[in-house]
Amino acid sequence: MKILTVIGARPQFIKAAAVSKEINQHREVEEVIIHTGQHFDKNMSAIFFEEMGIPKPKYQLDIHSLSHGAMTGRMMEEIEKIALLESPDFLMVFGDTNSTLAAALAAKKLKIKVIHVEAGLRSFNMDMPEEINRILTDRISDLLFCPTESAIENLKNEGFDNFNVLISNCGDVMEDAALQFSEIAEKKSQIRKEIHLKDEYILCTIHRAENTDDIKKLRSIVAAINEINEEVQVILPVHPRTKKIFDQNEIKIEASVIEPVGYLDMLELIKNSKIIMTDSGGLQKEAFFFDKFCITLREETEWVELVKNGYNKISGSDKAKIINAYHYFKAEKFIKRHNFYGGGNASKRILMELKKLK
Ligand code: UD1
Ligand code: UDP
Repeated sequence: MKILTVIGARPQFIKAAAVSKEINQHREVEEVIIHTGQHFDKNMSAIFFEEMGIPKPKYQLDIHSLSHGAMTGRMMEEIEKIALLESPDFLMVFGDTNSTLAAALAAKKLKIKVIHVEAGLRSFNMDMPEEINRILTDRISDLLFCPTESAIENLKNEGFDNFNVLISNCGDVMEDAALQFSEIAEKKSQIRKEIHLKDEYILCTIHRAENTDDIKKLRSIVAAINEINEEVQVILPVHPRTKKIFDQNEIKIEASVIEPVGYLDMLELIKNSKIIMTDSGGLQKEAFFFDKFCITLREETEWVELVKNGYNKISGSDKAKIINAYHYFKAEKFIKRHNFYGGGNASKRILMELKKLK
């Protein structure tokens, strides 16, 4: 069985690391990796391959920093050529980025079966490029591996039961990665010493277009961070997209701003933080994996179970809401009462399903 895996952006490297590790344990499965190049800075890309032992991509497309249409179109063109050359049984994609949609579309038109890992998630906000990418990718996928029960429900509500596809709740591959790399991170990461972190700090990330492309929202989030930072250190590994906008608009942020970090450093930063504040999808779950409350700097989330059960609060970009959520969680004790994400066995379950097919 031959799988063509297409990855291109930071969260996909982390997800692919978990699944590739499992694939490597099955001799009968061959994986060929394409890196679209969507993310290209060393600490947005190469560092994950080095640290996490992701097999070297056979193809590097170097397609990045373009408009959505141009990026998706150019990726499709190149992936189509490679798919014809490699003739795989399956093409595998992760999540909801432009690389995901481009690869799924190119493969489906060549009648190659598409595997979508992290299927069924919905924010119900069609203004998000990610929502468009994931809905379209799901619709043309043949094997839909969902991370949660609510993702399965979303697909049912969209009529997927009537389609000739496999839908499975395999759990979340990000939990596989978090568990696999947690101990290694503890041994190897020096980040807390390197950046002279205080004992108590809040970890924050901001990169979603809905925040970075709306300067009012971004200023409001920054105002909240600046106020919180007076009380407790806020550490912000800054995505290049956000950095550009901070610089262009001379936005002054009173936090410890650092370059993006690799996964091992990130795990250490998460595990030792007091609270997480983020608009990232992945980080909301990683907060939960490591018993941290999360303030979500968005108007909605795909990880609804975390909000319903009190682990996560949606603040949007509203300064008062962010600060209130901070004061609320500061006084709360984190008690984990649920296991929503499969306990670190998602990649195993995916491979089990795939092997049944061949
Ligand atoms: C993409 C995904 C988003 C995901 C995020 C993960 C889409 C539509 N969005 O957003 O869903 O949450 O990745 O991080 O696919 N840049 C650099 N260096 C890099 C990477 C990006 O300078 O290594 C710059 C690009 O040149 C561009 C900007 O950051 O100007 C945005 O990059 P892009 O890949 O378009 O989207 P992300 O915001 O990273
Ligand atoms: N991450 C990282 N270094 C950073 C910021 C994030 O390793 O400086 C990791 C984070 O822990 C999570 C993944 O990148 O595993 C999430 O990616 P991102 O926030 O870029 O995308 P999203 O999940 O929102 O699509």
